[in-house]
Amino acid sequence: MIEKTSYDSPEYDVFKSNVKKLTGLDLNSYKNQIHRRVHMLMQRWNISNYDVFFKTFKENDQKLREFLDYLTINVSEFFRNPNKWTELQDVILPRLIQSRGKKQLKLWSAGSATGEEPYSLAILSMEAKLAPQTPVLASDIDQGAIALAKRGHYLKRQLINIPKELVGRYFTTSDGGETYIVNSEVKSRVSFQRLNLIEDTFGDDFDLILCRNVVIYFCADTKTALYHKFFKALRPGGYLLVGSTEQIFDYRKIGFESAGAFLYQKPA
Ligand SMILES: C[S@@+](CC[C@H](N)C(=O)[O-])C[C@H]1O[C@@H](n2cnc3c(N)ncnc32)[C@H](O)[C@@H]1O
Repeated sequence: MIEKTSYDSPEYDVFKSNVKKLTGLDLNSYKNQIHRRVHMLMQRWNISNYDVFFKTFKENDQKLREFLDYLTINVSEFFRNPNKWTELQDVILPRLIQSRGKKQLKLWSAGSATGEEPYSLAILSMEAKLAPQTPVLASDIDQGAIALAKRGHYLKRQLINIPKELVGRYFTTSDGGETYIVNSEVKSRVSFQRLNLIEDTFGDDFDLILCRNVVIYFCADTKTALYHKFFKALRPGGYLLVGSTEQIFDYRKIGFESAGAFLYQKPA
C-alpha cells in the first residue's frame, strides 16, 4: 500500500526536483492531478516510496518512457478533430497565403507528441502547394516521443481520419499493409526540436501555431504565461489554434482577437 503523502510533502519536493533534473519536466507547473497520476503509476508498479520509484525509471530507459508517457499522455491522431482541419484548409491557410504568399509561412505544432499533428500540417501544406522549404516546426518536451515521430511509422488504425486518397499519396505500407510509413517528402518538411513550452524561449514570426491537448494539466498561471509567449511568437495576423476543450477566456487581455471556435488571431 502507498504511504499517504501530501503533494507538498518534503519527499515529494525531492522527487519533483529529481524529475526536473532528469527530464526537464517541472511538476510544479502542473495541476494537482499530476500528483494523482504519479501515485497511480506507483501503485501500478507496486512501489510505495518516491526514491525507489525515481530510481526505477532513472535506471531503465523503458520505464522512463512509460513514466513520461503516463504523465504527459502522448496520445495523438492524424487530423484530430477533422472539422478544425477542414477550417484550416479551407479558410485559414488561404487567408495566410493571400497575405503572405506560399513561400514563407511558418507553421508550428507545439506539443507534437508522436508526430501525427505536424505531419498532418505538412500534408496540408503540400495539398495547398506551399513551397517545399515552408517549415513545419514540431516540438515536444519528450525526447522519446520525438524519436518515434521522426521514425514516422504508424499502424493502420491510427490513420482512420485521413481521407483514402491522401493515405495513398503520402504514405507507403510495409508488414503486409499493417504499418504505414510517412513519405520522405512529408518528413522533409518537418523539423523536430525538443522544447519545454513552460521554460524555453520561442522563435518568432510564426503564422500558425497549433497547441492542442497539451495544457490539460497545466495550472492556470502556467497556461496564461504560455499564451502570452505564443502571442509574442506570432506574426501580426498569425493564428493560434488550441484544443477543443481549451478555450482561452481572457484572450482579449493577452491581445488576441477571436477568429472562431478555439482559434485566436494576433491583430494584423
Ligand atoms: C496529448 S499530446 C498532444 C498531441 C497533439 N498536439 C494532439 O493534439 O494530438 C500532449 C503532448 O504535450 C507534451 N507536453 C506536455 N508538457 C509539455 C511541455 N511543458 N512542453 C512541451 N511539450 C509538453 C507531451 O509530451 C505530449 O507529447
